[in-house]
Amino acid sequence: TVADGDYKVADLSLAGFGRKEIQLAEHEMPGLMALRREYADAQPLAGARVTGSLHMTIQTAVLIETLVALGAQVRWASCNIFSTQDHAAAAIVVGPDGTPDAPSGVPVYAWKGETLAEYWWCTEQVLLWPDGQGPNMILDDGGDATLLVHKGAEFEQAGAVPSAESADSEEYAVILGVLRRSLEEDNRRWTRVASGLKGVTEETTTGVHRLYEMQAAGSLLFPAINVNDSVTKSKFDNKYGCRHSLIDGINRATDVLIGGKVAVVCGYGDVGKGCAESLRGQGARVIVTEIDPICALQAAMDGYQVATLEDVVETADIFITATGCFDVITNEHMARMKHQAIVGNIGHFDNEIDMAGLAKRDDVERINVKPQVDEWRFADGHSIIVLSEGRLLNLGNATGHPSFVMSNSFSNQTIAQIELFTKTDQYPVGVYTLPKHLDEKVARLHLDALGARLTELTKEQASYLGVQVDGPFKSDHYRY
Ligand code: NAI
Repeated sequence: TVADGDYKVADLSLAGFGRKEIQLAEHEMPGLMALRREYADAQPLAGARVTGSLHMTIQTAVLIETLVALGAQVRWASCNIFSTQDHAAAAIVVGPDGTPDAPSGVPVYAWKGETLAEYWWCTEQVLLWPDGQGPNMILDDGGDATLLVHKGAEFEQAGAVPSAESADSEEYAVILGVLRRSLEEDNRRWTRVASGLKGVTEETTTGVHRLYEMQAAGSLLFPAINVNDSVTKSKFDNKYGCRHSLIDGINRATDVLIGGKVAVVCGYGDVGKGCAESLRGQGARVIVTEIDPICALQAAMDGYQVATLEDVVETADIFITATGCFDVITNEHMARMKHQAIVGNIGHFDNEIDMAGLAKRDDVERINVKPQVDEWRFADGHSIIVLSEGRLLNLGNATGHPSFVMSNSFSNQTIAQIELFTKTDQYPVGVYTLPKHLDEKVARLHLDALGARLTELTKEQASYLGVQVDGPFKSDHYRY
């Protein structure tokens, strides 16, 4: 439970509201609740010290309390400066049995609207446990907690932290600052944290990409499970989650009528597919940009115009980036857009839209409309509307994905935590995905709630297809 003052959230008095929403969410998260029942006696996470870095929302609150129900001790930060729901954070600190005056839940370091310095301070706080021991598990989204441990250990090995002037971004300069202070305090801290870790389970495409890069470079320090590429994660959360929360974000930010508008979706991967569908569902005419001929052809077959941004930048009304790439919308693009064009990103990091370049221009003025909505007015009089300063708008301007889809993602997270924590020997340093039977299990846990009835193979049919009656039903290379 929370030791005295070992947390930092916006307002503990929001805990009652948070608790009510957590209770409603539990009903919509049948996978997580089934795992609580299944593992109530076995307590597979007893002894696990989990550091979590993942959007501190109501859905994440249900995940955290599931990990605790399975025996884990947990510390939590958000993985984005705007994505925390303050009532969820408060409810987790207070806990189901505590009060704002006597909190007895889980230490959380997260609030909506952190500065970058505060964000990295929070990430550091959840990696440093008060008893001096580190975590033995990380649950990451985007890889920032994993990055801090790796960079810290790397600089400790080198005996020095590079100068802030060498940083290629404001954010990296902040990270270097945190690590410089840390190295002065204790020059073996991150090396110890790294060696105590059994592994990390990573939530998203961009974080997984970082893990494979470290594996290829030989610099990965502990095993990792790629949760994103469970089918019941990326083909559900990334797609159907964004189909729900993209327009929720645009609506709450602007309340502009989407029907009849021209909307450009950059990137037609899992996230882009959900975004394009949701905009079309509202009656927008959707244009897709892609660099991959396969995804471009998929977009065309799905009935979308496929164009380059240059071709449509002056005529479209709404621009959404969903690529995981950088500099997809440049400041020159933004200067050429229509008056009051809406620009937002739903990819993990804020560099898909060149916000730094926009801010540096001397012919543009930023006018804040409300939290997470800015008008950028150019000298020629036209302006554009940028959501969440280019950070993921579905979590910055709205509340992220709804519970039911996150129950799929987080059931995979919970199973991945159990796998790595209890079967550590079977996972030498490397990046793994969960076996297909567990992916199918996650889907099964969600069928009843939707009234879906599954057909069962006969023994003869199963042997005809060359599978077992109770699965797995597909080969590993099947793409869904
Ligand atoms: P993906 O790899 O399936 O799709 C990205 C697509 O963008 C690919 O098809 C790629 O060819 C295309 N692309 C790359 N560079 C491009 C460029 N310069 N112009 C046009 N297209 C380009 O990845 P996924 O799963 O769709 O994720 C995309 C991003 O969204 C990642 O950063 C991921 O971490 C994040 N994400 C965000 C969520 C949210 O709730 N906001 C939920 C899930 C993922």
